[in-house]
Amino acid sequence: MSVACHCPFTFHMPTAIEFEAGAAASLDRILTAHSIGQRLLVVTDPGVLQAGLIEPIVETLRRANYEIRIFSAVAQNPRDTDCLLGAAQYLAHDAKAILAIGGGSAMDTAKTIALLATHGGVPSDYAYGLRPYGPTNPIICVPTTAGTGSEVTRSAVITEAASHRKMTLKHAVLRPYLAVLDPLLTLSVPPSVTAATGVDALVHAIEGATCRKSTPIAQAFGERAMQLIMPHLQRAVSDGRDLEARTAMLEGSLLAGLCFGSTDVAAVHCLAEALGGLYDTPHGVANAVFLPVVMRFNASVNRPLHARLAHLLGFACATQTEDEAISALVDGIARWTRELGIPTLRELPKVQERDFERLAALAFANTSTDSNIRPITERDYLTLLHEAYSEGL
Ligand SMILES: [Fe+2]
Repeated sequence: MSVACHCPFTFHMPTAIEFEAGAAASLDRILTAHSIGQRLLVVTDPGVLQAGLIEPIVETLRRANYEIRIFSAVAQNPRDTDCLLGAAQYLAHDAKAILAIGGGSAMDTAKTIALLATHGGVPSDYAYGLRPYGPTNPIICVPTTAGTGSEVTRSAVITEAASHRKMTLKHAVLRPYLAVLDPLLTLSVPPSVTAATGVDALVHAIEGATCRKSTPIAQAFGERAMQLIMPHLQRAVSDGRDLEARTAMLEGSLLAGLCFGSTDVAAVHCLAEALGGLYDTPHGVANAVFLPVVMRFNASVNRPLHARLAHLLGFACATQTEDEAISALVDGIARWTRELGIPTLRELPKVQERDFERLAALAFANTSTDSNIRPITERDYLTLLHEAYSEGL
């Protein structure tokens, strides 16, 4: 992203990655090769269960003598209360490993279940530093959407059901032991979910590569992720059976996960998580509605970087000035998300301007606020909320 040297930096990635069309059908052999214990708690969500993705995988595993219990009480924005239920199921089954098959919600729930089952307490104990993290039994992730990147990150975003507040649990022990990526599992994802999760992946690449904690490694992953996502997301939305586009999107979301998973996200996610916590807005949609205004806000602190982003994402050409490129970036992102069928902030159900002060406070309290490339205040968040609402970008 930038040619400047970043020193010092660290990078740690212990997750084994298996990426292959059809990998899910041979999950038994993959798990055996990685010496995963025979007793598994499978964590999934009701949508994935209904889509029929779980049954053949579980059948294959049972034939290979794996003892499976399925936990599917996973919400769109995963709740601490469900994680506690899952931990009880994990212990009752005497599970030796946890297998998440689903989107980010299932994976984040699974990570948190593994933590609670081994070390007790409630998710907020860990999010607020009241209880130390410790090693868990193996966490295996099989994503069924291209977006979250949670299969390679050290974090889990959990909503405290009582307060609607989103908490980020973040620690190296939450990095999965194994990630199995099979683009065939994403073929049946509906267009609206494909669009929202794909934009989430793009935001991971942008924020991970440009935030204050960015590193050369994150920038390399992020840049490649952007190059994969931009030409393929519309294709995957228009034709879900386009395996080439689905494969590129899953690879792009994986690389975006490796990008932000070693650095952080920033203000777009802070606003999106506030919105998702309060209204249960799908995470990718919540990201999309804030991306243009946050990029415009951030551009003033590093105009060359944002002009370069405009070129990378295909919204500007070489003959344009820096100002023209940044303007094309903001307009282009807004137009692109509209073309993907994603609504604006004003069009979202339940959103009301009288909640904006509360949303701004929630966003400001997010631990990723400090990572934003431009220092940002609670008042700035409030302004961005009003801009996104009134301008309909
Ligand atoms: Fe995200």
